Amino acid sequence: MSLKVGVIGTGMIGQDHIRRLTQVLSGVEVVAVNDIAMDRAESAAPAGAKVFETPQELINDENVDAIVICSWGPAHEEQLLACIAAGKPVFCEKPLVTSAESAIRVMEAEVAYGKRLVQVGFMRRFDADYRRLKTVLDSGALGAPLMYKSVHRNASVPEGLYTSDMPLNDTLVHDADISRWLLDDEITGVEVRVPRRSTRGNDLRDPVMVMLHMSSGVIVDVEISVNVAYGYDIRGELSCETGIAALPNRPATVITDQFGIRQAIPEDWRERFIEAYDQEFREWIAAASAGTATGPTTWDGYTSTLVADAALRAVDSGKLEKIEMIEKPALYSAVEKIAAE
Ligand SMILES: NC(=O)c1ccc[n+]([C@@H]2O[C@H](COP(=O)([O-])OP(=O)(O)OC[C@H]3O[C@@H](n4cnc5c(N)ncnc54)[C@H](O)[C@@H]3O)[C@@H](O)[C@H]2O)c1
Repeated sequence: MSLKVGVIGTGMIGQDHIRRLTQVLSGVEVVAVNDIAMDRAESAAPAGAKVFETPQELINDENVDAIVICSWGPAHEEQLLACIAAGKPVFCEKPLVTSAESAIRVMEAEVAYGKRLVQVGFMRRFDADYRRLKTVLDSGALGAPLMYKSVHRNASVPEGLYTSDMPLNDTLVHDADISRWLLDDEITGVEVRVPRRSTRGNDLRDPVMVMLHMSSGVIVDVEISVNVAYGYDIRGELSCETGIAALPNRPATVITDQFGIRQAIPEDWRERFIEAYDQEFREWIAAASAGTATGPTTWDGYTSTLVADAALRAVDSGKLEKIEMIEKPALYSAVEKIAAE
């Protein structure tokens, strides 16, 4: 029997997830949609899906088994709490919520429910290349990790909509989450350095260099550049005691012509992580069909809000900003290890 899903927020990524849920993946059906822009919901609704006027009506509808939240971050808390109150599994795009207090309220509700219901959209954890990198690290063949370099480059970002704080409170969350997951470690402090500003970014603070201090002593250095023009370029390199492990360049046809020997670069995150998003939803569908969630937890969403807050403090102070966390609820301690393949 198919999992009957309702999608809240039918903008760019909501439409892309509706496409994969209806055209790519099996065992799932989009039966309901909602958006504050009703016309957008109506045009995104697949044949036969009901368009709801409010997220609450969609969540509580008895025909909806599980929910996918793709609305804006500030709307997530209310929608997540309604899903938990209804006892329905929910996939929530990042950011889980936009403040640590808000994340704690969602965690408290999920812990009181007594079972994981929430999965956060950190899709890199489902990418085959990152999983292979983790397998190498976890094998111990290269000794202990000492440093990790994470590079996050966008060709461009929407002018006016993307502000100077967003590399630190929107983009960095992916690098921070993948570092925590790869290293199986928590971030204890954040430093930020601002190099020479790119003239392509108008008034944006771009690029930025971030140093994430892990509890083991590993330091992660993150480059975020959001206006590099040439494409979407994601890199990762682990320096361990006896060797280096790095993400491969994406396989692409090699073109040889009068301009030289070259390979195409992904245009954006949709192209680079297309299989990771598919795999993320494949695993979510399996978990949600069993009434629960898998992969990134509400705790992971909580820590990403703390990292974003610390990074914003660090850019102002120029100093190492420490991260203070609440005690991790037991519900999130025994998180299953994701299989390597
Ligand atoms: N995992 C990733 O790599 C990734 C990539 C892109 C976007 N995102 C996240 O997905 C979310 C949506 O991003 P997007 O690029 O699709 O934005 P978008 O602006 O294109 O779409 C958001 C949609 O949500 C609707 N909406 C806003 N508030 C709502 C509410 N209270 N109830 C119902 N609908 C509401 C808007 O009308 C809009 O149609 C954001 O949280 C964003 O950070 C994640």
